[in-house]
Amino acid sequence: MDGAIPLDQPHTSRIYDYFLGGKDNYEVDRVAAEEILVAWPDIRTAARVNRQFMHRSTRFMAEAGIRQFLDIGTGIPTEPNLHQIAQEATPDAHVVYVDNDPLVLAHARALMTGGALGATTYIHGDVTDPKGILSDPELTGIIDLSRPVGVSMIALLHFVEADIAEIVATFLDALAPGSYLAICTITADFAPEQVVAAQDVYRVRRLPAQVRTRDEVASWFTRLDLVEPGVVPPHRWGLIETTEISPAYDAKVSCYCAVGRKP
Ligand SMILES: C[S@@+](CC[C@H](N)C(=O)[O-])C[C@H]1O[C@@H](n2cnc3c(N)ncnc32)[C@H](O)[C@@H]1O
Repeated sequence: MDGAIPLDQPHTSRIYDYFLGGKDNYEVDRVAAEEILVAWPDIRTAARVNRQFMHRSTRFMAEAGIRQFLDIGTGIPTEPNLHQIAQEATPDAHVVYVDNDPLVLAHARALMTGGALGATTYIHGDVTDPKGILSDPELTGIIDLSRPVGVSMIALLHFVEADIAEIVATFLDALAPGSYLAICTITADFAPEQVVAAQDVYRVRRLPAQVRTRDEVASWFTRLDLVEPGVVPPHRWGLIETTEISPAYDAKVSCYCAVGRKP
């Protein structure tokens, strides 16, 4: 893959970094982000709640005994990163990060600072090429695919217009029983007007964007044992870190998440 950073074109990772209050974004990203904020004024809340789900789902998988993690659509480093959560629970956790943004690649060194007992590495790759990711020597160097892996695709799949069921199936085929899949992705089920308007801003800028229904997200987990409470908005999954839970808050966040275990 080409490693050049195109500065005349916004990128999803840098727009997200802007929403989270980061500094790793360019003028072109900030202009797009401000336009998205007009369409969906609560998207910063969505980004924050999504990130909190990453923390909880990673902790959950680590506490369930997972020692190997594959985080696809990693994003620009934002502390705590996934390996820091996983290695807090299990210091020997091995973590492979994957992203298709050259800027994330440029920051990869910062991601590879795992504890002495663990290991982290980075693949500049695309989720639409599961076989390429699974056979990459960086992955096979620290992940043993005959043992369970926790695969995270958090705030990634709404940037992928390809057939997600097929992508998920390819990963699941390669994973050992006892592996987990954690997903969080944007839906227009709760606030169709604002979310579709935001999707349009991405698409006009030639960034792939695709909202999904609850049934679509559930269909990706049919081969898995769904962890309670199933497919829900991320602030309703696991330990509740927000006090405000109402249909209005579901609309603010406008995401579905789920965690499933391969039997
Ligand atoms: C919104 S960020 C999410 C970051 C992190 N997972 C989180 O939840 O905080 C989405 C990330 O997915 C990456 N991405 C988008 N499309 C991708 C693809 N087809 N393959 C791999 N990564 C992709 C972007 O570069 C970006 O870093």
